[in-house]
Amino acid sequence: KRVAILISGSGSNMVALAESMVGDHPARPVLVLSNVPGAGGLAKAEALGIPTALVDHKRFGKDRAAFEAALQAELDKVQPDILCLAGFMRVLTEGFVSFWEGRMLNIHPSLLPKYRGLNTHARAIEAGDAEAGCSVHEVTAELDGGPVLGQARVPILQGDTADTLAARVLPMEHRLYPAVLRRYAAGDRTPLHLP
Ligand code: GRF
Repeated sequence: KRVAILISGSGSNMVALAESMVGDHPARPVLVLSNVPGAGGLAKAEALGIPTALVDHKRFGKDRAAFEAALQAELDKVQPDILCLAGFMRVLTEGFVSFWEGRMLNIHPSLLPKYRGLNTHARAIEAGDAEAGCSVHEVTAELDGGPVLGQARVPILQGDTADTLAARVLPMEHRLYPAVLRRYAAGDRTPLHLP
């Protein structure tokens, strides 16, 4: 399976995914695509020898369709079987999502269906939750709403801030996403729970 990874930032999840796709893994990374010029993940992808592309969403103003057509043009060049959104911070239109439905994953830093959207760790702390975590889900038109394929849980500790909680969740993302992708690439949609 050919995997394209979409990023907007540091790309730590992209690195974890790319480094997992070795040996008898059924998938290989064929492209890292960023909407942000100079995103840290682009340099990391180049260092890993993965082709990269940039589609700067600012070039398209409010025209989401034109932005997504440019994304699709880059994807068409590499013909991926699976898209992995990894710290990709643009909302995709229903048109793009339906074209890729059943072939597109995302990682979200909350225990979905709780805390869709942004500032997930601060919201979990504010709510007094005992646990937080991350979820890998299939992307559908509903933001952070698709079928959950995997979750990892961590405790919320006394005195946690959004940053200390994020620092506890992120390493779990780096374990969860590769584990889910390996199953997904083999056609297995059995939900995975860590630990
Ligand atoms: C992570 O918290 C991830 O859950 C969210 O974006 C953040 C940064 O991810 N989607 P990365 O380091 O760019 O992979």
